[in-house]
Amino acid sequence: MGDPTAATTSIKTLAVDIGGSGIKVMILDEQGNPLTERERVETPNPATPDAVIHAIMGLSEGKEFDRVSVGFPGVVRKGVTETAVNLHPDWIGFDLATALIHPLNRPVRVANDADIQGLGAVAGEGVELVITLGTGIGAALFLNGKLVPNLELGHHPFRKGETYEEQLGRAALDSVGKKRWNNRLERAIDLLERIYNYDVLYLGGGNTKKIDFVLPPNVKIAPNVTGLLGGIALWRD
Ligand code: BGC
Repeated sequence: MGDPTAATTSIKTLAVDIGGSGIKVMILDEQGNPLTERERVETPNPATPDAVIHAIMGLSEGKEFDRVSVGFPGVVRKGVTETAVNLHPDWIGFDLATALIHPLNRPVRVANDADIQGLGAVAGEGVELVITLGTGIGAALFLNGKLVPNLELGHHPFRKGETYEEQLGRAALDSVGKKRWNNRLERAIDLLERIYNYDVLYLGGGNTKKIDFVLPPNVKIAPNVTGLLGGIALWRD
């Protein structure tokens, strides 16, 4: 038996995921369950702060929500975006949270996209590592559900003088093809397991659909929607 007033009194969160190729939104209820379908537009090119904010405004139009969670593909500290390798240099030092509060007229919280995906995916037990395979390579590390924010593993050396992102990001997949990309991913998983000794590794992001080998038992696929569902966790305090 549900509370008949719950649907109207529940706080609604607009979850936004800014990606290198698409910007996605969805409305979540107070428990973090989706209230709408996921909507997506192409990330503008060039992906300047103004252009991306404009796209978010367009996606938010006509929707009912009380607060906003944003996942951003770079280091985020106190609402300020500090890196943006796959967007535009104007994001460096940009106060995204403040820039959105005024036009949206709602409280806004911003975090790294992989951190949000992880918050939506992990079980909250032991050491859980999340790696996202998209335009860039994102990473998030958790101990008993507690996040170590802004783990920029994607830009660390992996092999042949290249970083994980240079070897496994979208550009690499496009240039070397699925077979070699899968071989690289297998090697990366093996290396990450030996470094982090995680209990579970979650793989997220659009390119997980290109994986064509059997994953080890402690490696799971995090559905794409977790990149938005995790947005609710930014309000858990
Ligand atoms: C960024 C990370 C981000 C990842 C996935 C990387 O290039 O440095 O912060 O999480 O891409 O979007």
